[in-house]
Amino acid sequence: MATGHERGSFGGALGFILAAAGSAVGLGNLWKFPYLCYRTGGGTGPEGTGAGAFVLSYIAAVLLLGIPVMLAEIILGRRSRQGPVGAFKTLAQGKRWHWVGALGVTTGFVLLSYYCVVAGWTGEYLVQAASGTFGSITPEGANTLFSTFLANPGKQVGWLVVVMGVTMLIVAGGVSAGIERMSKIMMPALLLMMLGLLVLALTLPGGGQALAYLFRPDFTNFGMSTVLDAMGQAFFSLSLGMGAIITYGSYVEKRELVITSAFSIAIIDTLVALMASVVIFSILFSFNTTMEGSGISNIFTAIPILFAKLPGGSFTVVVFYVLVVLAAITSTISLLEVVVSHFIDRLGWHRRKAVLLLGGAITLLGIPSALSFNVLADYTLFGKTFFDLADYLCANWALPLGGLFTALFAGWFLARHHKTEELGSGPFFRYWQFTVRFVSPLLIVGIMVWILLAA
Ligand code: PFF
Repeated sequence: MATGHERGSFGGALGFILAAAGSAVGLGNLWKFPYLCYRTGGGTGPEGTGAGAFVLSYIAAVLLLGIPVMLAEIILGRRSRQGPVGAFKTLAQGKRWHWVGALGVTTGFVLLSYYCVVAGWTGEYLVQAASGTFGSITPEGANTLFSTFLANPGKQVGWLVVVMGVTMLIVAGGVSAGIERMSKIMMPALLLMMLGLLVLALTLPGGGQALAYLFRPDFTNFGMSTVLDAMGQAFFSLSLGMGAIITYGSYVEKRELVITSAFSIAIIDTLVALMASVVIFSILFSFNTTMEGSGISNIFTAIPILFAKLPGGSFTVVVFYVLVVLAAITSTISLLEVVVSHFIDRLGWHRRKAVLLLGGAITLLGIPSALSFNVLADYTLFGKTFFDLADYLCANWALPLGGLFTALFAGWFLARHHKTEELGSGPFFRYWQFTVRFVSPLLIVGIMVWILLAA
């Protein structure tokens, strides 16, 4: 088992917040959130009704599930100074709670395998941007470019291998210092860029329509599956339910403002998702265009159209995709780190060996996801391709399940002094304890049971 000094630590509260936000902010915010909005809202054509119900459910999920579970994960990490399996083993000796950690490691393994496929798309788009493809691209041209790219199995698998390769290289070097330094530059740059794009998007003719589409509470398409999507997305986007935040929390040395950290991470993460969506929907409404595959193409087709219209756009679009690639990589690193650090901590593997074997296995598992958009597109189970099924199982079921057990453990089984030493024993502690004991678990179980009964 690795000892304290080998594990490394963050320099301070800001380092932790930005590194955790780096893990949280990723394709989930920039690509998946707008995609879910588009899908739930029924598109931006005449048949679309708006994504307000989804956005509202999402914000409720962040408040009632995300923030309480994030606090629980930070506490577990800090008190045990271990990854997910070690954390449960240390804090609940002789019990079977570490299976929750094992579920997290397994989820990380599967999640990373398909996440890297989309991360690969961002690599391709960076290359396209740098080679000037988007100079005068039309909405139709953007759609054709994306669908031709998806249909190319060689490119899909090739990019998967490249992204996994880069992730493995970084994780092999040990991460805590690298992650912190990278996040400290990347996160402010990304936030600034998103802010600039937001201002621009709101001056477009479709800006008002985009805001109405996203925020008008319209419950036409609302159903229990909207709530399941929102819950899954909250866990996915905040990197919760699989031990990533436990692992990062274990690198926090002193008592670093646990509550402020959790709220800051959740606020940054939610703002980025909302800003990205306003930008993308403003473009869609302004240029009167729709998206491929019920919205799956969003940051890949909408963004180039906007930049093509701007003076100096062919340079700025490169900066944009650099930031998207970095946002994706800070998330893939944290996913691989959870899996790798488990094998180092618990099985005593050498870091290089763990990275090579596990990274290799994850790449192999990613291949059917990479082929889900071309050669395997017609092979479906429950109407879902391999990619969709992996995402559905991880995001909508495995992460919330991990979150459920984490909340129950922190609420009912973790010794009180661990909690009060982190949160104090005032009204906030009592509010949090009530939430992780009752509110979050009942919500998660309620939503799951409802969906299962309706199936
Ligand atoms: N939160 C990341 C995103 O929104 O893209 C994805 C993710 C990273 C999920 C790390 C889970 C995780 F442990």
